Amino acid sequence: MKRSGQFMKMKQNNEKIVMLTAYDFPTAKLAEQADVDMILVGDSLGMVVLGYESTIPVTVDDMIHHTKAVKRGARDTFVVTDMPFMSYHLSLDETLKNAARIFQEGQADAVKVEGAEDVIGKIAALTNAGVPVVGHLGLTPQSVGVLGGYKVQGKDADAAQKLLEDAKKCEEAGAIALVLECVPHQVSEMITKALDIPTIGIGAGAESDGQVLVFHDVINYGVDRVPKFVKTYGDANGLITAALSQYVKEVKANEFPEEKHTFSMNEGEVAALYG
Ligand code: KIV
Ligand code: NA
Repeated sequence: MKRSGQFMKMKQNNEKIVMLTAYDFPTAKLAEQADVDMILVGDSLGMVVLGYESTIPVTVDDMIHHTKAVKRGARDTFVVTDMPFMSYHLSLDETLKNAARIFQEGQADAVKVEGAEDVIGKIAALTNAGVPVVGHLGLTPQSVGVLGGYKVQGKDADAAQKLLEDAKKCEEAGAIALVLECVPHQVSEMITKALDIPTIGIGAGAESDGQVLVFHDVINYGVDRVPKFVKTYGDANGLITAALSQYVKEVKANEFPEEKHTFSMNEGEVAALYG
C-alpha cells in the first residue's frame, strides 16, 4: 500500500495520482483491482448510495460503517474518509474524537475536511495527533447552503487569491494533499505550482497533480445525470437494466431456471417420496 509520503514523491516525479470514491466491499475491490492510487470514502455516499438530496444528513457512524466495508475490499489501497457535516466544527475535542473513531473503528488511512478558516486549526490538531488529513477547497458541498448552490468557485482574481492563501494554510497546517473542486483550471494550476503537497482536482482541469471522480459517475451506475466535469467510461445502468429485465422475462416465461441450474434426487428416492 502507498503511504502518505509517497503521494508527495509522485508529485515531484510528475506522476499523476488517481483517486476514486468507493463506498462498499465490491466497489472498493474493483477500485483496487483497477490500480487506483487512493480511494475516497466520500460523504457523497449520502447522495450516491443512500439517496439523500445532499451530503448534509451523513453521520460519523455512516462514514465508519462504509469505511469498514471499503477496507475489507481494498486492503492494499490508501483510504481517505470524509469527516461528515458538522463533525469537525463544534469543538476541537469533538473533532479529535470523531476523527479518532473514523481512524480506529473505520481503519481509514486519512481523513478529509472541507474549507479553511476555523478548519485550518483542526487540520493542525489532527495532524499533531497522528491523523493524516486531506484538505478540500473550492466548491465544498457541505457548505452548499452558504455558497448558494453548486457553483464554480474562484472565478475572479480576488477569490482565486483567497483560494491560494487558504491552500497554503492547509499545507502549513500539515495537510498531506488538497482536493480542489470546481475551480477554473488556471486557479488549480496556480495552487498546484505553489504547493509541495499534491493537489487532486475534480472539475479543476488537467493541471492538478491528480484527479478524483465519483465511482458511480465513472460507470454511469444509479445516476440520472452527471456534471460537466465528469467523463463516463462505462454504462452500468444499461448493463444492469438489460440483465434485470431479461431475468424477469425468463422467470415469467418459465425459461429460468434450466436443468443446469437445478438439483435432483436419485430415482429411487423420488419413488419413495410418492410412496
Ligand atoms: O464526497 C466526495 O465524493 C468528495 C469528492 C467529490 C472529492 O468529496
Ligand atoms: Na465529500
